[in-house]
Amino acid sequence: MKSSGNHNTSCKVPAHVAVIMDGNGRWAKARGYERTAGHVAGVDAVRYVIEAASGLGVKYLTLYAFSTENWNRPAEEVEALLHLIVVSLERETPDLVRNNVRLNVIGDIDRLTDESRESLRRSLDATSRCTGLQVNLALSYSSRWEITRAARRMAEMALEGKIRPEDIDENLVASQMTTASMPDPDLLIRTGGDSRISNFLLWQIAYSELYFSPKYWPEFTGDDFVAAVEEFTGRERRFGMTSEQVSACAPNNTNTLQQ
Ligand code: FPP
Repeated sequence: MKSSGNHNTSCKVPAHVAVIMDGNGRWAKARGYERTAGHVAGVDAVRYVIEAASGLGVKYLTLYAFSTENWNRPAEEVEALLHLIVVSLERETPDLVRNNVRLNVIGDIDRLTDESRESLRRSLDATSRCTGLQVNLALSYSSRWEITRAARRMAEMALEGKIRPEDIDENLVASQMTTASMPDPDLLIRTGGDSRISNFLLWQIAYSELYFSPKYWPEFTGDDFVAAVEEFTGRERRFGMTSEQVSACAPNNTNTLQQ
């Protein structure tokens, strides 16, 4: 399977898929379990989706695991969720390496405990030479945090005389985002039945295709991921151009959907 370029216009495997994994709490509640049981069940869905994305030849998969706003949840849930994420990652790391999956974290991880950060660091280091799918875990992440940080960095660069205000263009702003080295998401999937973005990758999803699934995250399977990608491949992406322009300048991208 060949890898894809930055902009897919039609019938192509998305290079970058972002996922808002929502509905763990409701999944648990519907079964009479504690909310944290939903998060535990959600880890299996993460594994299935990583496998499906890897199998399809997706290059980047960005998962919204813990938002800045999630810090406001009850302390026991915050602690349980972060512990689950860090422990699951460490447990899954050998499998990630076996499958050539590289792990990356985006977000304000200075807010995590030293122990969690060290555990994350071990997983990141262990997968650092993998060259297949890159999984970006958005942890203590929100778009407004990211955009504010970018603005502050550019103000500092200006104060230090490294840039002039007129040097600030879209490329410079993009270079200050946590996703600077990656193509923007082609496809954003949200599970759990709600149709909103919840402070996720607001800069990066300017032209992403959106896909909303009614399924709670723990019920979302590899086949559901493939179905979302299949629907994506049928959409025409115009990036503000006309249909005719898009057909005329379609990139030479042969990364068609196959499994
Ligand atoms: C949203 O459901 C989900 C989260 C806040 C956490 C997502 C985390 C996982 C699935 C575990 C990830 C693990 C790894 C290893 C990456 P919610 O609690 O907001 O559900 P609700 O909307 O039904 O209340």
